[in-house]
Amino acid sequence: MFKAIRDRLLLSYLLVLASILSVFAIAVRVVFTHALSQQVTEKLAALGQGATANLELEDGQLKFERDFPTSSSIDRDRALEWFDAQGRSIGKQGRYTLTLPLAGQNAVQTQAGTPRIRGVTVRAIDSDSGRLLGYVRASQSLDEFDETLKKLDWGLGGGITIALLLSGVGGAILTRQAMQPIEQSFDRLKQFTADASHELRSPLMAIQANVEVALAYPEGIRSKGDTEKFEAIASATSQTIGLTEDLLFLARTDHFPDREWQVLNLADLLDDLVRLYQPQAERKNICLQASGSRALSLLGDADRLRRLFANLIANALHYTSSGGRVEIDRRLAGKQIVVRIEDTGIGMSSEQLERVFDRFWRAEESRSYQSGGSGLGLAIALAIAQNHQGTITVTSQIGVGSCFTVRLPASSQGSEVRR
Ligand SMILES: Nc1ncnc2c1ncn2[C@@H]1O[C@H](COP(=O)(O)OP(=O)(O)OP(=O)(O)O)[C@@H](O)[C@H]1O
Ligand SMILES: [Mg+2]
Repeated sequence: MFKAIRDRLLLSYLLVLASILSVFAIAVRVVFTHALSQQVTEKLAALGQGATANLELEDGQLKFERDFPTSSSIDRDRALEWFDAQGRSIGKQGRYTLTLPLAGQNAVQTQAGTPRIRGVTVRAIDSDSGRLLGYVRASQSLDEFDETLKKLDWGLGGGITIALLLSGVGGAILTRQAMQPIEQSFDRLKQFTADASHELRSPLMAIQANVEVALAYPEGIRSKGDTEKFEAIASATSQTIGLTEDLLFLARTDHFPDREWQVLNLADLLDDLVRLYQPQAERKNICLQASGSRALSLLGDADRLRRLFANLIANALHYTSSGGRVEIDRRLAGKQIVVRIEDTGIGMSSEQLERVFDRFWRAEESRSYQSGGSGLGLAIALAIAQNHQGTITVTSQIGVGSCFTVRLPASSQGSEVRR
């Protein structure tokens, strides 16, 4: 139980951390990409601007000096392309020119492919006349840019992974430390419950034995009123004994040894219980029936499983009024055994359903002293089911009835059932 809580704590902690780190990484990536891209574009614009000085009009003919910029100022990743005022290409220099058509003034173009190429177009204006001479498009391969981004991605990804690994280890140690006192006090509480209920048993047994002796005396020795008092003491004592036994059982459930487990036939176990409860059902005029599969092999503790289903059947009979029905159906669904205990009893509201498995919880109307229960029956049933890696679910409607569904893993030993 505590391991599951620890794991859940650690997992949610890591999830939170991972989302914070991802948001951080995405922000860094976006800002960095934007700044780098801007830098490239600005450099290209400056290069293009420089190259416009080479365009000049000679006898109405647009000319440009091919030797500018010199190979030293234009490195091997950059290129220039000159256009006339009508946008016709009149010459280029360098490897990475764009094949895209010329776009307008200051347009930034990025061409996909390997490598990606970015180009910036600037206008060339005749300084004397102010006339538009043409355009220069400076471009450059984005190889280096992409390379830098890739390194950044690796850096961020690696950093996040290492950070998560480290905090996973640290978190595991911390949650263990934080849970330790809670686990200890829980264990102490359970030990106390076990000890207390164990210690209560002997005096209660003594009271019960003495009351039985007193009740066995012939009528003449006691007055009539005394008999009733003794019977009340006997009934209260047996209730208290039941309660202490339930408490002891719950306190020990987590520790019951697996070696008492055996492959058993759940169908037989249920049939036995139906036979056992038949007289009680007949007394209340309730039709108690079993149906479904005849052989359902299951690995488990027979005594505890009997207790689980006895609690459910007893409830169904208890909370169903005379003339009703209680049906027990069991079958195999895939790798699971599904047992449904359905009654036509008083039912429960949805608020009541939420609390029905709580220890000591009883619906208001069943709280009377006469009905005897302590509200531990379903808590015990659930603890047993969970100990067998099973579940109990319940559906109910007030005045219509309730249906408790128990799911338990079927034994893989198939039809080899020990009876
Ligand atoms: N089949 C049912 N139909 C209607 N209400 C039910 C049914 N089963 C359980 N309940 C409600 O759930 C409550 C808790 O049940 P639970 O078996 O835990 O305790 P209990 O029967 O009151 O006492 P005990 O500890 O003796 O079993 C009951 O008091 C009752 O109000
Ligand atoms: Mg009960």
